[in-house]
Amino acid sequence: MGSLMTESEIDIVEESGVNEPILYVNGVRRVLPDGLAHFTLLEYLRDIGLTGTKLGCGEGGCGACTVMISYFDQNSKKCVHLAINACLAPLYSVEGMHVITVEGVGNRRYGLHPIQESLAHSHGSQCGFCTPGFIMSMYALLRSSVKPPSKEDIEENLAGNLCRCTGYRPIVDAFRVFARTNDALYTNESSGLLSREFVCPSTGKPCSCGLNIKDDKETAKRSICRGDILKPISYSDTEGATYTDKELIFPPELLLRKLTNLCLNGSNGLKWYRPLKLQHVFDIKARYPDAKLVVGNSEVGIETRLKSFHYPVLIHVAHVPELNQLIIKDEGLEIGAAVKLSN
Ligand code: FES
Ligand code: FES
Repeated sequence: MGSLMTESEIDIVEESGVNEPILYVNGVRRVLPDGLAHFTLLEYLRDIGLTGTKLGCGEGGCGACTVMISYFDQNSKKCVHLAINACLAPLYSVEGMHVITVEGVGNRRYGLHPIQESLAHSHGSQCGFCTPGFIMSMYALLRSSVKPPSKEDIEENLAGNLCRCTGYRPIVDAFRVFARTNDALYTNESSGLLSREFVCPSTGKPCSCGLNIKDDKETAKRSICRGDILKPISYSDTEGATYTDKELIFPPELLLRKLTNLCLNGSNGLKWYRPLKLQHVFDIKARYPDAKLVVGNSEVGIETRLKSFHYPVLIHVAHVPELNQLIIKDEGLEIGAAVKLSN
């Protein structure tokens, strides 16, 4: 451990936050005001009118609050898309990221996304409370997959979403149409098919469903394997709105923007730090020994929200490089405290 920061250096960290903490929500840039460190992402989203994301358990157990976050990973130089529970995510933990909610995926007015269409046609929604969460989990899986996921991937991906109505079968059936069934179709290996033959993504075999769908909306509604879903084409819902296959892109500003330290506030004197160096974590901790370190907020979030604990200083360490390292050594595996479980 190196030398501690001096008082004035900590003050610099406190003042050196980005001038304008921002967030993109469904493609719209939003400035995050100071004073909201006690807010969860879910509270913020519902406050700005995006009530499609639901509050169920409030403790990360049911998935009703699932949204997708996207950020540019400087190490891999790739956009990362993740489904997260907005009920636990502190609002400022997604500063500089793009949040997509179910409203940004599709709706009846402007056209349902094929994932939503499929769930509706399979009767995978009854009371509908869990539905946005299932949609967002599936959406994040498809956006983060280089090739279509397997059936097993899909089932595993839904492990964090609970439904009290459907018994899950219709939901799983609705999403299975997005699964790959024949790996050879996604490599350059010859599948022995003529180039103009349509391959059904559900069965992995040539069929005529895709050709019919292109020409016939009614056939599309009745289609069992719905070959258009994997590779969406214009597709009409029952009210005539058309899904145009345009996905929300990752905001270019976030590709260029550099993360900076953050020091923001919340109610009851709450202070929120986002240091980017391990040394700064030590320094802030030296000044506030009782400060809590936060990554996914699955422990501190439950203590503060459901058990009325009060922690006046929170240090968000998710962006500290040393805590994100996953190293394989001769002696074993070294996993940083901020490494995501999925990694
Ligand atoms: S509301 Fe249940 S996981 Fe968030
Ligand atoms: S449809 Fe009612 S909880 Fe899932």
